[in-house]
Amino acid sequence: MKRWKAAVSLVEQNRRMRAPPMDVIAFGATSFVGQILCRYLLEEFGTHRELKWAAAGRSKGKLEELRASLGPEAATLPLVVADAADDAALRKLCASTRVVVSTVGPYALHGEPLVRACAESGTDYCDLTGEVQWIRRMVERYEAAARKSGARIVHCCGFDSIPSDLGVHFLQGHAMSRFDAPCARVKMRVKVMRGGFSGGTVASLMNVMKEAAADPALRKELADPYSLCPAAPAPTVRQPEVRGVEFDPDFGAWIAPFVMSAINTRIVHRTNALSEQAYGADFTYDEAMLMGRGLKGQLAGAATTAGLAGFMLAGAVAPLRGVLERFVLPKPGEGPSPSEQREGGFDLRFVGTAQDGRQIRTKVTGDRDPGYGSTGKMLGQAAACLALDVPKGTPPGGFWTPATILGDRLIQRLRDRSGLTFELV
Ligand SMILES: NC(=O)c1ccc[n+]([C@@H]2O[C@H](COP(=O)([O-])OP(=O)(O)OC[C@H]3O[C@@H](n4cnc5c(N)ncnc54)[C@H](OP(=O)(O)O)[C@@H]3O)[C@@H](O)[C@H]2O)c1
Repeated sequence: MKRWKAAVSLVEQNRRMRAPPMDVIAFGATSFVGQILCRYLLEEFGTHRELKWAAAGRSKGKLEELRASLGPEAATLPLVVADAADDAALRKLCASTRVVVSTVGPYALHGEPLVRACAESGTDYCDLTGEVQWIRRMVERYEAAARKSGARIVHCCGFDSIPSDLGVHFLQGHAMSRFDAPCARVKMRVKVMRGGFSGGTVASLMNVMKEAAADPALRKELADPYSLCPAAPAPTVRQPEVRGVEFDPDFGAWIAPFVMSAINTRIVHRTNALSEQAYGADFTYDEAMLMGRGLKGQLAGAATTAGLAGFMLAGAVAPLRGVLERFVLPKPGEGPSPSEQREGGFDLRFVGTAQDGRQIRTKVTGDRDPGYGSTGKMLGQAAACLALDVPKGTPPGGFWTPATILGDRLIQRLRDRSGLTFELV
């Protein structure tokens, strides 16, 4: 018995000696959203309590400024300097942590070396990208390495696409217990969304439009609702898509296109594919904005559709894109003020319809603006969940979605600690 205990404690000592010193490193800590993330991590976890974490970025001076701005509690916060293009520095960074959470974007321009370093070293990773074409490239290039090393890569851990992906997961869980079957048809409708955009988000969006304008194959890929699904099982169902103002009888209101559906729907379908079609082989899903009832709702829907079409057109044409970037949109490092973040919020409504016509309604809400105040909290809890709640090996290495790897554990964290609600209506 004594010998067995000694062996166990030796194994434990070994494990501790081999364990990296950090649970999480926040890379891109000096970005607009990275600073919100760091403030939240500090408030929620301190620096060396439940979660050991460090702030990383390319500039030592900016990192020190950030640490000073976080107050005396952050005095002992470790800082790591690494450039997103420096493979050796990224490998060193990966060796010192269990999870890297990155806000260095546009990811299509700066993100690949870090994903490669994580996939090859077995370090878990999460981020805020909503760039479908880049995610697809990363899966194609690094899935085999991640499977071999055991690295779990989780993209889209912000407003796109956690509320959609976990919202559908939550609804389907209730459908299973109520109907003993998933809902074949699910719709998400944005009832309230108060907040603004940052320069980094705009730069990422503009980069997608620039790439798409130059590449017809990419335009086709971006239009494919299953573009992030593995080749098998081959999808057979045509997906609905809200392209203009239309009346939605399930909500008794007019609806208009929702710009983030282009990434959220792809993640939800990837979740279904990775979970052996737990939502059904004939599952359909779409997202739209609720515009209200009557003529007022219809006119608001028409105006929203026209505004979105105008923005897309301007983004696709180089000279107009330049004007937008220079004179209209926020610059890198800019974004909604702290009071705009506090006064913001979101309310997303879901309706699921089972094969026999029975329906279930749920909602997901957030108490800060979606893109920054709430996104910082969602990303922070996603990283903590990956580091603390999801044992290595279960699931194994690969590219996962928030719902397939974090699922109920993250819903619990977001409800208890991040001002989000997931409720039956
Ligand atoms: N999914 C969502 O809901 C959501 C929400 C918000 C943001 N986002 C995404 O998050 C990303 C960040 O947005 P943001 O507004 O915070 O951007 P931002 O303020 O423009 O910051 C970009 C960051 O990238 C860093 N960076 C650039 N090149 C680098 C390099 N070579 N090495 C190391 N770091 C480098 C910059 O470092 P310096 O500070 O040293 O300049 C900066 O910290 C964007 O891609 C955006 O689309 C997604």
